[in-house]
Amino acid sequence: MALFSKKENSTTLERPHFDVLPEHVGIIMDGNGRWAKKRGLPRTAGHKEGAETFRTISKECGRLGIKSATFYAFSTENWKRPKEEVDAIMCLFKQYLLEAKDDITAAENNRLRFIGVREGVSDELLTLMDEAEEETKNNTGCEIILAVNYGGREEIVSAVNKLIAEGKTKITEDDISNNVYTAPDCDLIIRPSGEQRLSNFLLWQAAYSEFWYSDVLWPDFTVNDLYKALTDFQNRNRRFGG
Ligand code: IPE
Ligand code: IPE
Ligand code: MG
Repeated sequence: MALFSKKENSTTLERPHFDVLPEHVGIIMDGNGRWAKKRGLPRTAGHKEGAETFRTISKECGRLGIKSATFYAFSTENWKRPKEEVDAIMCLFKQYLLEAKDDITAAENNRLRFIGVREGVSDELLTLMDEAEEETKNNTGCEIILAVNYGGREEIVSAVNKLIAEGKTKITEDDISNNVYTAPDCDLIIRPSGEQRLSNFLLWQAAYSEFWYSDVLWPDFTVNDLYKALTDFQNRNRRFGG
């Protein structure tokens, strides 16, 4: 994997300065299937192109100085899809992980983390995920979090079960915040592809998230779209109920 993907090469934009950046951005990588369909290609071709966009955008998050970026890659509900499609997506994760050491992490000093349910994910993939986390754990750049076999409801239930197992009988909001997979709360959620829903993404952390939607399909999403979302974000008036 080349250090700069074709999407970065084709973008000659200057990186804008942002006065305010989200500490934690969440991105729902949606629209791969429709992107492929529009071109008369199999859905898997859309996932392949979407993986390329993920490489570009995750690196850009690091360069911008964003602390954490969670990318929704595969939901607990996505197992309902045809086996062929699921297998192709898992294969793309594997390819990414095999490259990750030299590409996203070593080059960019980013940390890689995975959130979601381990059960159901192949042992081979789990080993690669663990290795990638271990190899990048001391990096000080952006924490790039891939949500794989992730569901927001599952995350909350699993946090509660963990607390019960620890003997807690009364649970506070802080307890749950400290036991969900990611912290801090999500400041900005970006969803391309024209859908305006969370689809079980970061339910707990999204309590006061700003939302940014775009009709662009994820494989077509560029760093310029990311800049647009961040520009909008810095002009939002966040009140947190106050
Ligand atoms: C997102 O793209 C990727 C995954 C959910 C794994 P989709 O595959 O959902 O693409 P659309 O929404 O059908 O276009
Ligand atoms: C959300 O997209 C999940 C991911 C992007 C990984 P979906 O395509 O699964 O969501 P729905 O079905 O449109 O709500
Ligand atoms: Mg979709």
